[in-house]
Amino acid sequence: MKPAKKPSNPCFSSGPCAKRPGWSPASLQDAALGVSHRGKRGKAKLAEVIERSKAVLGMPKDWLLGIVPASDTGAVEMAMWSLLGARGCDILAWESFGSGWASDAKNQLKLKDLTVHKAEYGQLPDMHKVKWDHDVVFTWNGTTSGVRVPDGNWIAKDRQGLAICDATSAAFAMDLPWGRLDVVTWSWQKVLGGEAAHGMLALSPRAVERLQSYTPSWPIPKIFALTKGGKIIEGIFKGETINTPSMLCVEDALDGLKWAESIGGIKALIKRSEANLASVTRWVSQTPWVDFLAAEPKTRSCTSICLKIADPWYAALSPEQQADGTKKIVSLLEAERAAYDIGAYRDAPPGLRLWGGATVETRDLEELFPWLDWAWAEVKAGMTKAA
Ligand SMILES: Cc1ncc(COP(=O)(O)O)c(C=O)c1O
Repeated sequence: MKPAKKPSNPCFSSGPCAKRPGWSPASLQDAALGVSHRGKRGKAKLAEVIERSKAVLGMPKDWLLGIVPASDTGAVEMAMWSLLGARGCDILAWESFGSGWASDAKNQLKLKDLTVHKAEYGQLPDMHKVKWDHDVVFTWNGTTSGVRVPDGNWIAKDRQGLAICDATSAAFAMDLPWGRLDVVTWSWQKVLGGEAAHGMLALSPRAVERLQSYTPSWPIPKIFALTKGGKIIEGIFKGETINTPSMLCVEDALDGLKWAESIGGIKALIKRSEANLASVTRWVSQTPWVDFLAAEPKTRSCTSICLKIADPWYAALSPEQQADGTKKIVSLLEAERAAYDIGAYRDAPPGLRLWGGATVETRDLEELFPWLDWAWAEVKAGMTKAA
């Protein structure tokens, strides 16, 4: 039977993610539109995003935080192009985004002393093999496999290299141990439900020291340049962006941060996201046809919650039929306006992905579960009949 009630907000995409509860375009009415981002009002708004982000995240006072172009990709690439090459490099790749950073290090930067620690979707690589006299690039939360690092204990406190962390689907939903990190990046489009296109780049004093003491052998385009004449460009970290940002997106980022503060800051954000994971975990434990893609419970993401289909009938299908089956579930739920964008990422194994970041209400997920059961039964019946 088709469930009677639908989630009030059917947005479960892993980016751009659901807007915060209560958001409307009216939340943007104070945007500094039609004026220069370098003018007093525009610049103050950019600086406010930086200051509020630092405060909500509990970033140490001696870190720098800047707004950079090209979303999280821009921030990660900027860090890689500006910092790598000074020493050996280890990259951890356990899903699509980490693999992308590894490929850039190998094929674009052509790093000579490069080790890639790989794992299949659902697993983490062996973290004990990471060499901390090297720079280390990793994603805190693998958005396409739903596997996160459980904590930062595997990161050496006395490392000589830099810990460069793509935290785009972790920041504001997971505890980040600042003392064990040197570069942290994210985009507004994730946990706080902002807009894409702008990235955040956070640098520890050690990362700044590297920037000021090392010049890569490759050219650095203007859009990636963090230093001038061997000195860090301080303005970037006070709201003087490299190029022109969207002040509408800036206002929206401020709205998300103010909402985060209003509900109790980072603790409340993490609590909301973990409650979403707990609710999915309860449903999965009662539902024989699904399971987590992440094998180890403590590595299961509370934001990008990736599920596989565990039904033996489905497992016996060809990979094409499996992909077709999950696509049918996704389309059915989209047509019913019960859920949008819940299919696995294009490079990941076929399955479902539910965003559980802080802007998602647990109630909406709970209203989605009967729809998932219904769609699964419909698709299985349809495919069995056709066979
Ligand atoms: C782990 C990770 N890294 C990088 C990206 C790319 O982010 P953006 O499209 O904001 O550049 C994503 C997007 O989902 C991601 O999940």
